[in-house]
Amino acid sequence: MNSTETNKKTSPLATAIVLAVIVLAVLLTCAPYFVAIALAEGPTEHADASPIFGVTIPPSYKQWELIAPAEEAAPLDELRAVVGNQIAIDTYKAGKLPFPDGTVLVKRAWKRKQSPEFASATIPGSATTVQVMVKDSKKYVATGGWGFGRFVDGKPVDEAQHRTCFACHEARAKSQDYVFTRLAP
Ligand code: HEC
Repeated sequence: MNSTETNKKTSPLATAIVLAVIVLAVLLTCAPYFVAIALAEGPTEHADASPIFGVTIPPSYKQWELIAPAEEAAPLDELRAVVGNQIAIDTYKAGKLPFPDGTVLVKRAWKRKQSPEFASATIPGSATTVQVMVKDSKKYVATGGWGFGRFVDGKPVDEAQHRTCFACHEARAKSQDYVFTRLAP
């Protein structure tokens, strides 16, 4: 009888200690994963990522190959150049649509400026916007597989502007995988 009573008195404390040790072990085991998850989620909430899509400016786009130049009439009145990463260039050259995941297209744009050396020549003035399209067919299911980003001075513009991107590309360029620009001859 005595030993049973002793057991009844000590067992809740023992159970509590065992539970505490288990909880501590679980927390210590999971801590690195929580940190990893927090770090992995960081970039999408990055201040330099576009709203809705989480698209950022690719670091090396100024070295990318030209797909085609373009001009925009007033009121924007701009010079433009669409460039692409290697996947984009390879896809254009192969002439096969849709663009595969990993394709990145960047549209650079500048104010028009008269050449100081030659009156009839127009050269790029100050940069206005950098616009980016990233293909990820799983992540961007609702927008034809494309994520969009428009940047001014390296900072993304507001969410309202990002809501307009796909609608226009879908309305006018759906048959070319939502991409307007063709490889310049
Ligand atoms: C009203 C129509 C319209 C809207 C809205 C629009 N675009 Fe475009 N986009 C175009 C056209 C037209 C081109 C072809 C190049 C040119 O004329 O500048 C283009 C080209 C592009 C390109 C180069 C690839 C291609 O499709 O030719 C990118 C990148 C791009 N747009 C990103 C964006 C982003 C990001 C947004 C939203 C912030 C956006 N666009 C909103 C019409 C639009």
